[in-house]
Amino acid sequence: HLPLGARPVLQAHPSARILIVGQAPGTAVHKTGIPFTADFSGKLIREIIEELDIDEYFITNVVRCYPEKNLPSTSEKDNCQNYNYQELSRLHNLKVIIALGEVAYRQIIKLYGIKLNTHKFKHGNVIKLNKEIHLISSYHCSKLNINTHKINKGMLKKIFLRAIKLSYYG
Ligand code: URA
Repeated sequence: HLPLGARPVLQAHPSARILIVGQAPGTAVHKTGIPFTADFSGKLIREIIEELDIDEYFITNVVRCYPEKNLPSTSEKDNCQNYNYQELSRLHNLKVIIALGEVAYRQIIKLYGIKLNTHKFKHGNVIKLNKEIHLISSYHCSKLNINTHKINKGMLKKIFLRAIKLSYYG
C-alpha cells in the first residue's frame, strides 16, 4: 500500500535538455505528488532554475515512493529502475543529467552500464553516459547538507551553469 501521492508517476517532457534527478520524494509529497515541491531542497532548486532562466528541464527522483526513514531500501531502488529507464527513454532531446546525491548517481550510472568502481561519486565531476548525454554529480541540496555546509546555493548554481553550458556545447 502506498501513501496518497506516492504512486509511481511517469511523466514525459520530450523537449527537456536537462534532467535533474533526486533521491526520493520528501515527506510533503502527498501535497503535490510532484518531485521537489513543498520541500526545502525543491525551493532551492526551483529558485536557481528561475534565476538562470532554464526552461527545457525535467525533474524526477530515482525512487518514486516516500521511503521509510527517508532512506530507500535496495528493493525500493531496484523496483524503480524500470520507471527510470522508461522516463529516460522518452527524453529524446536530453543532453545533461544532474544527479543530486550519491543514491541518484548510482542508479543512473547503473542504467547506462557504468561501474561504480571505475566511476566513483564526486561533487562537480562530469562523465559521459553515451554520445549525447553528460552526467554531472552534485551533493544533494538537502536541509541537512545545507545546514552542515556540505553544499550551498552558490555551489549548486555552479553545477546548473555547467549543465547549461554542456547542454549547448557538449
Ligand atoms: N524532494 C524530492 O523530490 N527529492 C529529493 O531527493 C529530496 C526532496
